Amino acid sequence: MDFPMFHLDWLNDRFLIAVIAIIHVMINHGLAVGFIPYITWLEYKGVKNAPPDQITDNKWDNLIYNKMKVAFIITTTIGAMTGVGIWFSVALVSPSSIGSLIRVFYWAWFTEWVVFVTEVVLIMIYYLTWKNSNKSLNAKLKHIRFGAFLSIASWITMVIIVSILGFMMDPGNWNTDKSLLNGFTNPIYLPQLAFRTPVAMLVGGVFGMLLTTIFSRKDSEIRTKAIKYAGRWVLLWTPFAIAGAIFYWNVMPEAMKANMSTAVGSMDFEQYYDLLKYFIVGAASLSIILAIWALAKPKKVNFAVVVLPCLFVFGFLGIFERVREFVRKPYVIGNYMYSNLLREEDYPLYKKDGILKHATYASVHEITPENKVMAGRDVFILTCSRCHTTNGINSIIDVFENMYGKGKPLNEQAMATYIPAMHQGRAFMPPFPGNKKELEALVAYIKQLQESGESLQGAQSAGVAINPLNAVDEVAKGLEAEAAQNKDNETTK
Ligand code: HEC
Repeated sequence: MDFPMFHLDWLNDRFLIAVIAIIHVMINHGLAVGFIPYITWLEYKGVKNAPPDQITDNKWDNLIYNKMKVAFIITTTIGAMTGVGIWFSVALVSPSSIGSLIRVFYWAWFTEWVVFVTEVVLIMIYYLTWKNSNKSLNAKLKHIRFGAFLSIASWITMVIIVSILGFMMDPGNWNTDKSLLNGFTNPIYLPQLAFRTPVAMLVGGVFGMLLTTIFSRKDSEIRTKAIKYAGRWVLLWTPFAIAGAIFYWNVMPEAMKANMSTAVGSMDFEQYYDLLKYFIVGAASLSIILAIWALAKPKKVNFAVVVLPCLFVFGFLGIFERVREFVRKPYVIGNYMYSNLLREEDYPLYKKDGILKHATYASVHEITPENKVMAGRDVFILTCSRCHTTNGINSIIDVFENMYGKGKPLNEQAMATYIPAMHQGRAFMPPFPGNKKELEALVAYIKQLQESGESLQGAQSAGVAINPLNAVDEVAKGLEAEAAQNKDNETTK
């Protein structure tokens, strides 16, 4: 309410955040948190299995170095950029919720930032000093220690961020006692961490196996060995990933599970709901099969064999994130702030006065027959635009036409009956916050949208209008008038 509304009509605002965040998670889990410890472990194996007169097995070491090169390049470019991209996109699309989160988690985020900077320094040291460290055993062992520190630092950033993700799903007792500690120790935190950690390790191992097939010659001895090690790594972590998934599932509130079906795809895909379960079971069994195959027949494992499981586990991560983002709806912060950025506790006031009166940025504050459509546009921006577009993905016209008939003129009466009850049938949508006049204005706007086919511009291109009632001089005038009135009353007494 207190920010001008950025809006991407063709893409859908939620989609913008989702695309950036999903790429980021894939890189963070698969190429940092899960990958670095795997690489460090392999580097250590090189030293342990070195010929007696050498510090490390040089061919082996070179293979591991090449794998690290890929992780280094991708994490420090796309990884870092999408990390910043998440901040950028959520600040544009969802400023109130990120504002709340950073206030609650200020010290946690500050710590995370310090750890992240440490992580960046460590990855520079680890990658850039690799070759030089091969000159003495002492230097090599020190280098491996840097790998271990780097692994721990990457994991700690996850330890902190996962708490915030859990908090958004279910803040637990924070809703009654708003302290950082209560927010941090939310009920979904540990189960989610217990799930994400082994999943990251698993994905890191599968990706590592794929890189082995690229960077080593077929039938070479080191390739066979590296494939077997990757198999062992994946086999080790898979049971933990499955146990973590069960733990996580069991703490998820029923309301969230009820959202699952729509979360996996969209409402059109509801019947494929079971797909998620199959995908989880599929990804886990595929990893186990791949790992056993790698241990039993390492020479038979080539790029073509690994690429499919690799796509599968990364795909799984993507779907998992999408589902996690969706199931907490209608909230962006559980039981506190709805996904339309309005706080639940403010709803009674909005219902009474209407939302336009309390919006800082709105072009209309008093609805008249002349400005009705304009007012409806403001109401749409404030209450629907975080999830619906007018012309693009999940367009408001499409969702209504799906209900009432494609291309048929929308009926204002039917829409006005549907909207106040929309959260009952579709629990992922927040209740409509406005009053009756605003509801009528909203349906008039939607009807007009269907007729004109026009699209909605966000504040970034349409500019902003400050609600005249909330402009400073208007508020001051109001206060003066009120004071004068009080004086009058006193003198007449
Ligand atoms: C938190 C996000 C969110 C908000 C806010 C939201 N919606 Fe939705 N709405 C959705 C999603 C997601 C769907 C399902 C789309 C799909 O999967 O096809 C949906 C579906 C609908 C449908 C179709 C329902 C059905 O049963 O077929 C209508 C109508 C609708 N929304 C109207 C609105 C209106 C009007 C507003 C604003 C007052 C609004 N929505 C606000 C997310 C939201």
